[in-house]
Amino acid sequence: MIRTEQLTKSFGERTLWRDVDLTVPSGRMLALVGSSGSGKTTLLNCLGLLEQPSSGGIFHGEKNLTRLSAGGRRRFRRTHLGYLFQNYALMDNATITENLDVARRDRRLQAQALERVGLSGRERERVHRMSGGEQQRIALARVIVKRSSLVLADEPTGALDEENGRMVIGTLRQMADEGCAVVVATHNEDVRDACDEVFDVHTQHLAAAV
Ligand SMILES: Nc1ncnc2c1ncn2[C@@H]1O[C@H](COP(=O)(O)OP(=O)(O)O)[C@@H](O)[C@H]1O
Ligand SMILES: [Mg+2]
Repeated sequence: MIRTEQLTKSFGERTLWRDVDLTVPSGRMLALVGSSGSGKTTLLNCLGLLEQPSSGGIFHGEKNLTRLSAGGRRRFRRTHLGYLFQNYALMDNATITENLDVARRDRRLQAQALERVGLSGRERERVHRMSGGEQQRIALARVIVKRSSLVLADEPTGALDEENGRMVIGTLRQMADEGCAVVVATHNEDVRDACDEVFDVHTQHLAAAV
């Protein structure tokens, strides 16, 4: 699970969001919605300990993650976090296998993950030759292989056709059902419908998904 307590983020004079209290227990999936520029990515980055909030706490169990040292933040990310970045953050010059090895060197698990995302048999291909949608699916396979307890996804269906979009949504939902806490920034209605709760980052309104 992950929980925020009075989390606030400002850049200079501008406050993106203030006093955000969110709890995402294991097994639950939260959608972050809001217009472009409202601060969805920044909130995900704070949850993933890639950016510091201006004030407030982020708790994993009883532990306040905002108090961790740089090394502690790195360890938390390595141990607990799967992050599906909007720009995929893959190693472009490396093969699919080399990219998955970063998460876990387990060939059986990697093969299962590649089957799940529809990229079986393409292990030795280099990432830079692949389309945006394929790279998104490699990034998803990397998150599957890592088996994290917290999964953050930034507009994960943006580059995908409908069928692959459904596959990504189904996979994230399955991760939640298997016990992950999942947070996904999205503009997509189908993604939102697959979630348990929806938080509008702009209005700071929290609601049940359906
Ligand atoms: N490091 C930064 N310094 C100043 N402003 C930033 C920084 N990072 C993001 N912003 C601003 O914060 C706002 C929210 O950005 P972002 O979190 O990417 O929104 P969203 O993902 O909802 O589109 C944007 O206006 C962006 O320009
Ligand atoms: Mg964004």
